[in-house]
Amino acid sequence: MGIRTFNILIPITFIFLIFVGGCSNTSEVKKYKIGFSQCISKDDWRKSMDHEMKVEASLNSEIDLNIFQANGDVELQKSQIEFMIDNDYDVIIISPLRAKPLVPIIDKAYDKGIPIIIVDRKIDSQKFTAYVGANNIDVGRNAANYIASKIEKKINVLEIKGGDDSSPVTERHLGFYQIVDIEPNINVVYSIKDRDIEQRLPQIFDSLNVKPINFIFAFNDEIAYNTWKIAKARGIEETIKFIGVDGLNGANNGIQLVQSGILSASILYPTGGDEAMKIAMKILRKEKFSKNNILTTTVIDYRNAEIMKNQFDRINKHQNDIEIQQEKIENQEQTYTTQNKTLKLVLGLLIISIFLILLTVYSWSLIRRKKRQLEISNKKILVQRDQIKSSNDARLNFFTGLSHEFKTPITLILSSIESIIEDNVKRDFKIKNELGLIFNNSNRLLRLINQLLDFRKVEDRKFILRASETNIFKFTNSIYKDFERESIKRNIDFQLQSNNEDLLVYIDRNLMDKVFFNLLSNAFKFTPNNGKISIAIIDDKTTNFVNIHFKDSGIGIPENELKNVFKPFFQGSNNNKPSSGIGLHISKEFIDLHKGKVKIKSNNGIEVIITLYKDRTHLNSNQIVFESENLENPSLNFSTDYDDDFSPVILQKNENDRFSILIIEDNSDLVKFLRNKLSQVYDIHESDGHDGIEKAFEIIPDIIICDVNLPIKNGFEICEILKKDLRTSHIPTIILTALSNKESYIKGLESGADLYLTKPFSLSILFQSVKTLLYNREKLRYYYINNIHRLNENHDFIASEQDFINKMNVIISDNLDNSDFTVEVLAEKLGISRVQLYRKIKAILDVKVSDYIQNIRLEKAEELLKNNLNLSISEIAYSTGFSSQTYFSTSFKIKFGVTPKHFRNKL
Ligand code: FRU
Repeated sequence: MGIRTFNILIPITFIFLIFVGGCSNTSEVKKYKIGFSQCISKDDWRKSMDHEMKVEASLNSEIDLNIFQANGDVELQKSQIEFMIDNDYDVIIISPLRAKPLVPIIDKAYDKGIPIIIVDRKIDSQKFTAYVGANNIDVGRNAANYIASKIEKKINVLEIKGGDDSSPVTERHLGFYQIVDIEPNINVVYSIKDRDIEQRLPQIFDSLNVKPINFIFAFNDEIAYNTWKIAKARGIEETIKFIGVDGLNGANNGIQLVQSGILSASILYPTGGDEAMKIAMKILRKEKFSKNNILTTTVIDYRNAEIMKNQFDRINKHQNDIEIQQEKIENQEQTYTTQNKTLKLVLGLLIISIFLILLTVYSWSLIRRKKRQLEISNKKILVQRDQIKSSNDARLNFFTGLSHEFKTPITLILSSIESIIEDNVKRDFKIKNELGLIFNNSNRLLRLINQLLDFRKVEDRKFILRASETNIFKFTNSIYKDFERESIKRNIDFQLQSNNEDLLVYIDRNLMDKVFFNLLSNAFKFTPNNGKISIAIIDDKTTNFVNIHFKDSGIGIPENELKNVFKPFFQGSNNNKPSSGIGLHISKEFIDLHKGKVKIKSNNGIEVIITLYKDRTHLNSNQIVFESENLENPSLNFSTDYDDDFSPVILQKNENDRFSILIIEDNSDLVKFLRNKLSQVYDIHESDGHDGIEKAFEIIPDIIICDVNLPIKNGFEICEILKKDLRTSHIPTIILTALSNKESYIKGLESGADLYLTKPFSLSILFQSVKTLLYNREKLRYYYINNIHRLNENHDFIASEQDFINKMNVIISDNLDNSDFTVEVLAEKLGISRVQLYRKIKAILDVKVSDYIQNIRLEKAEELLKNNLNLSISEIAYSTGFSSQTYFSTSFKIKFGVTPKHFRNKL
């Protein structure tokens, strides 16, 4: 469940996160970014402008308004505009500090396509999208008109302007003078700048006697109030009327100053903050808007101040309400967003929980089902295991018991032979050789049985190491000697070398003897005659190890099978020789017991490298025993190579009368044994299996004796090929094999073998079998030769040959009266060559083909002479294919002892 659940959970969690995260952001996404660069920030009028913008912006949830304060610094204002350009603001609102310096940066923004709204002050460029602000000329004119309306006689007026050259300053001045210039009663005695009032006003007031000031027009309410304060300080405030600009609501602002009588009037100058924002929205929504949006201005004096205040208060309250409402909405939105997030989180977790619960339930039921299935199959396996174990045990016990049973008689045989040999050794060389053969083969049998028993012991882990200090070279040499004779016999270059012949190691001699013996047996088994086998004992003086290399030039083992060679029952795919496949397995187990290592390489043969400890530190004290140094091989070694001196008794017979036997067998001992026995009566030909078929074709022997386990092709295959071939199909074949099971027996018969003998076989039975087969063959021949005219009715004959003879007889009968009918014509009609036909008929019937045809002609002639008395002798001669009567008479006489004429006369 682990990894699969994890795999499912990852995408679910991912979807869940997208779901929660994605939804939570929706309320915060603002569609438009609007920036406002405010030139001055310290006074209420500017604050009011900012506030109006904020309120208006808050009414539109898609607007993200950012206000940048330039604090009277032109450079700062430029950089703010630059910033807004770079950050892709959708609309830029600017209240420019001054008309000229900002033009390039505003042009740049405009050229980039960003809508530009100019508020309050103007710039010296037309590259803006909209302008919002009151008409400052009207402001100045309103102020002048107000003064004019209040006077009857000539009065003196002081104008106090703003300190810069911004458009409001110049335009207000302009408008003011437009009126005062035409009003004869108004005399503007001074026009000063607000920043100079501290210094200039006292001077002006001091000159009151000369030119008393009746009205002061200040360019905003703040300047007016400050002027009033200076006048008050001199006690002359009552004599002067003050007029300001802006008409803001709130403490110490225009409306309140008018109400309190400090100012006679304030000219309303709306900030336009809300209007600017409204126009920005129109631009963004692509609605219609005016480029110049001129705000109305009016005079606030004692008559309308109250109304204006109330109106402004109401607007303020309204704005406050909106703000509160807005705040509440924001709070609610926040709460909503939080709740929304929480809800989705809970929902998501709930979904995951439900999924996990379902998954758990599903997995739980799955596990339960699987567990139940496992329990059932477990029980089955246990039952099967018990069954297998008990049947396996029974087999193994049977096998082991039987092997033990074998040991006793073989041991008895061996010891009897030993004593017989000792008694006869001097008397009869022939007996000695045969006894030697028996002895060596019994020994081999004993070793095989011991190997089987060792295998069982290895599997049961019953071996206990009994290591003794041993001269490894001498020890190896004693085993080397066992194989020396075979190496000479087969002309194998067999070497033993060591770089330290005195090296002592701790080995279990009994076990290591089996290992070395097994490795050498394998080497000799797979190395061809004239090959090379070597043993090299290399004392690695730098380490605590000795390496023993067994190298041969045999068939090797395919590279990909090398890893399996030490597994029990291993058979190399290129190995046709019979083997148990346990030798190397047991060897490795024995080497493991010594804490040694064994490696195998295959390169033009096999190299097995055994690595053993030199000292005894790896052994427990109970694994070490004392054994004497005697490493001589005590077993008797009898030569089976007795050909040189052996003169078998050969029955003196005429060479032509001897039958021939082809023995196809790769066990040279057995071949020699059979040759010795059979050559007394028969001509013996041999093949080790490589060229069995070719030899059979070449020799056409009278009998073939063939083994089953042979290189290249097995005995069944060889037999089948020979039996299917016209040239050899008639040769009686004896299969001689160790395979005694029913399947092999059937296979043997199917391959066409005439006899199936299993090893060990009795020599007398083999002798008798050969005799019987030859006798039967002779009987058949005799029968054919003497019953040629009745061959068609013969049912005892081998089917294939019967068919062949039948076919041949029909052809001959059809051509009986044809004197041109020759052996060539017959062979052609049979579809074989003349030579093949000759050999075949010679082998089956031991006659020449021409004689065979002649014989049939004569048999027919005899029948005609007997039954057709009306036919003359010459007629009979021609009708049976004789071209001359004389030749017919001669031939007839040879076969039947009388001439045709006499034959008829005798009837
Ligand atoms: C405020 C102010 C106002 C005036 C306006 C002109 O900074 O001086 O009093 O009406 O700016 O731009």
